[in-house]
Amino acid sequence: MNTIPQSLRYSSLLLLFKYPCRNSINNQISLAHFGLFSSSSSSSSRRNFSQKSTMSIRYDFKDKVVLVTGSSSGIGEGIAIHLSSLGANITITGRNVERLKRVGERCRQSSLSSSSSAKVLEIIGDVSKEEDAARLLNKTIETFGKLDVLVNNAGAYQIASIWDDNYMQNYDMMFHINVRSVVHLTKLAIPYLAKTHGNIVNVSSVSAQKPAANNTLYAMSKAAIDMFTKSMALELGPKHIRCNAINPAAIRTPIFNKVKNSDLNTDRMAEAAALSYPVGRIGEPLDCANAVAYLASDAASFINGVCLLVDGGSVNSALIMPEGDSKK
Ligand SMILES: NC(=O)c1ccc[n+]([C@@H]2O[C@H](COP(=O)([O-])OP(=O)(O)OC[C@H]3O[C@@H](n4cnc5c(N)ncnc54)[C@H](OP(=O)(O)O)[C@@H]3O)[C@@H](O)[C@H]2O)c1
Repeated sequence: MNTIPQSLRYSSLLLLFKYPCRNSINNQISLAHFGLFSSSSSSSSRRNFSQKSTMSIRYDFKDKVVLVTGSSSGIGEGIAIHLSSLGANITITGRNVERLKRVGERCRQSSLSSSSSAKVLEIIGDVSKEEDAARLLNKTIETFGKLDVLVNNAGAYQIASIWDDNYMQNYDMMFHINVRSVVHLTKLAIPYLAKTHGNIVNVSSVSAQKPAANNTLYAMSKAAIDMFTKSMALELGPKHIRCNAINPAAIRTPIFNKVKNSDLNTDRMAEAAALSYPVGRIGEPLDCANAVAYLASDAASFINGVCLLVDGGSVNSALIMPEGDSKK
């Protein structure tokens, strides 16, 4: 039986991370949001499930054309590489030229090593600029002649407190990239997806379903994506276009290293997830890529309007009762 009071177990874990006052509060809350400070977080109840996804079901994307936004890094990179290995012709895109080139090479390697002969188109652009989004789609159609799957993955994350002077700037930034650009690109893509009876997969977040202080703006932007997904499933279903989303918890990508005015980083997220996620580890891009491959494949032809958690069970982790407490 665990005899450490719950309050001490919380504080002992919090002591693992010592930060200046403001950052400390933001970071702790942010980690709590990702299910990282739950009542199951003590080292005595540390899970030992460290298996990572090393295998995938081989869905057939031969001759399919997939556009993945935000594919110069992280989850989008993982999705692009995985779908290339499954035979999809891929458009990858982002603002960083060097990183996009590197991902392009990895997609080609992945395609070669699985003998899929998939092609890769690299387009530099900012999804939040309407002209760039239009160019992204037009170039894809010019090059491949059609579009089967749109993966709206590009996104930005920033911790933001209502007390911050730049709160509205952060609101505009996150809603512009995480919501407006998704709605705009989807609108542009619909005529092409209608022709192929294609589908859309949006990359939302567990944040859409789990509120946390100082995470409000990001969470609201992703909650909007969940509702957009479910509503588009109804509106586009009759046109034979499916629309689904994945809702990842913390995934090992550079996104946490980009958060401003914070010491939050990917290594800290991974360390905390190992202690508190029910499966004992942070997610990997391949975990998301596997879920996207399924939702985008014909195997999911009856799946429409789903927001699929890819979270190792962490969305519910705060609800786990500490061992033994109920017997006091
Ligand atoms: N990592 C997580 O724990 C996690 C959890 C839940 C949900 N998500 C969501 O997953 C998605 C991908 O995140 P990630 O973790 O893979 O982050 P990441 O490694 O930082 O990648 C973000 C990608 O989005 C692109 N991007 C951002 N703003 C853009 C813009 N205005 N125009 C064009 N491209 C833009 C970036 O490209 P450039 O930098 O080259 O422009 C990059 O390719 C996001 O929607 C994020 O909210 C992540």
